[in-house]
Amino acid sequence: MATLAEKLFDSLTPGFDRLEQGADPVLRRSDHADFQVNGVMGLAKRLGRPPRDVAQEIVDHVDFQGLVDSVEIAGPGFLNLTVSDEALISQLEEMGADEALGVSAAEKAQVVVVDYSAPNVAKEMHVGHLRSTVIGDSLCRILEFVGHQVLRRNHIGDWGTPFGMLIEHLVDLGEDNAVANLSVGDLDGFYREARGKFDADDTFKERSRSRVVLLQGGDEETLRLWRVLVAESIHYFDAVYEELGVGLRETDVVGESAYNDMLDDVVADLEAAGLLVDSDGALCVFPEGFVNRDGEPLPLIVRKSDEGYGYAATDLAAIRDRVSHLNADRILYVVGAPQSQHFEMCFAVATMAGWLNEHTQATHVAFGNVLGPDRKMFKTRDGGTVKLKGLLDEGTLRARSALEERGAEASDTDVIAHQLAMGAIKFADLSTDRQRDYVFDWDRMLAFEGDTGPYLQYAHARIRSIFRRADSLPSGGKITLTEPAERDLARQLVAFPEAIENSLETLSPSKLCTYLFTLAQQFTSFYEFCPVLKAPDEATKASRLELCELTASTLRTGLGLLGIEAPERM
Ligand code: ARG
Repeated sequence: MATLAEKLFDSLTPGFDRLEQGADPVLRRSDHADFQVNGVMGLAKRLGRPPRDVAQEIVDHVDFQGLVDSVEIAGPGFLNLTVSDEALISQLEEMGADEALGVSAAEKAQVVVVDYSAPNVAKEMHVGHLRSTVIGDSLCRILEFVGHQVLRRNHIGDWGTPFGMLIEHLVDLGEDNAVANLSVGDLDGFYREARGKFDADDTFKERSRSRVVLLQGGDEETLRLWRVLVAESIHYFDAVYEELGVGLRETDVVGESAYNDMLDDVVADLEAAGLLVDSDGALCVFPEGFVNRDGEPLPLIVRKSDEGYGYAATDLAAIRDRVSHLNADRILYVVGAPQSQHFEMCFAVATMAGWLNEHTQATHVAFGNVLGPDRKMFKTRDGGTVKLKGLLDEGTLRARSALEERGAEASDTDVIAHQLAMGAIKFADLSTDRQRDYVFDWDRMLAFEGDTGPYLQYAHARIRSIFRRADSLPSGGKITLTEPAERDLARQLVAFPEAIENSLETLSPSKLCTYLFTLAQQFTSFYEFCPVLKAPDEATKASRLELCELTASTLRTGLGLLGIEAPERM
């Protein structure tokens, strides 16, 4: 279905086309009216005419077909549009009848590969992986909601030289013992011990080196031990995904090692394209425009001088594979901002090799850091990595005491506390513009007031409680907009498709968060000024129940797209 903005746009364009074919009205939502048309000034300039004259001429020639109540020419030639109540009401009715709440499917469904989460084997997942997981999950949900085919890819770090020392440490501990350590999620302890021995003990170092050679050579027993490490780590990652409620499955794991067999082909392709340069025995590509501090060209190292392959080669192979075998139209990499240059260089080389072109687009969806209360990187007190599993559990405990303090309505406090905690953590993460850092602050994210997950979940639960107390349920009653608070709520409701569009355009769920927060606030003032169950008459009550119903489904759907559950009661 067409959005209100689209309908307005269509009615405006003939007025602009008359003066200049294809001129853009530049229609925006506005604080001054419902919508503002900003395109007159530019057009007037191009025509060499006074903007207010042009504005008047456009107004005289536009037929708004009842969509607009009043048009005001303001300032240097803005048009302020006030939408008619009838238009709002019919928009709400269409929205209510539409499962997608007015959000249209993408014009062309694409295959979108989303590379996210990607923790490293035998290493603790850190809060950066949490961000990647939460943002990636939300983007996948939004992309699917508008009809794209999403392929989730968990590009875990499961290969490389550290596995020599990790396997030797596993051998030293004895397999059962090692598995016991890893299965309780002590990944960092395991890694640190291995590292410690590697640094202190020359024979261990030697054993580790030969082990790497065996691993790369495909020695069966070595591979078996390696698989134990990988399986135990994945097991731990899965527990975190499960608790977070994100849609990453074991089948989505296509780690670095999965590309081993493709690396020689990558070299062959790059060689054939004449891109490889031998630099002291290493095979490199020098993409244009990348220089170091001294202005010297920067290499992307495809194969090291010891013939080993690294992170860059694997990523090149992954791009090549995602384009040629997965038929990706688009690839998104939800990875922290510090890896920007790595991705820019990989994309540049992949473009030079012809894997990426105008048909396939790769984007680094970069994000900022999670900071502790001291505004430094979020770490444990002794400077270690915060264990995600422990962090999530702590959230649930804190949410439970918050619920108990409020005198919760629900009986299944455990379930609700968990939903609340995950909602709080995810919303805090998603609502900050992803490029920015944010401070991890329990009290702020778990608050029932302000821009938080619990506030939105509570707004939803409150509406559901109205329905539990009502003697009749919303049943498609006629909507009327009498009070200003009703109209404000309606205006916000019909803007849902735009919020989805903005989030997709910027690949930032924060746009959707802002929308939902404003919706919840509008609902709060509506509920304050407009009694629902005690409405003055039955018709008003039916109309208000209808507004409540639309608000609840929009909140539930929107939260769902953020990966946040909307409990029925709290
Ligand atoms: N494992 C990497 C890390 O922990 C992230 C991998 C991101 N994805 C990729 N295709 N490089 O930093």
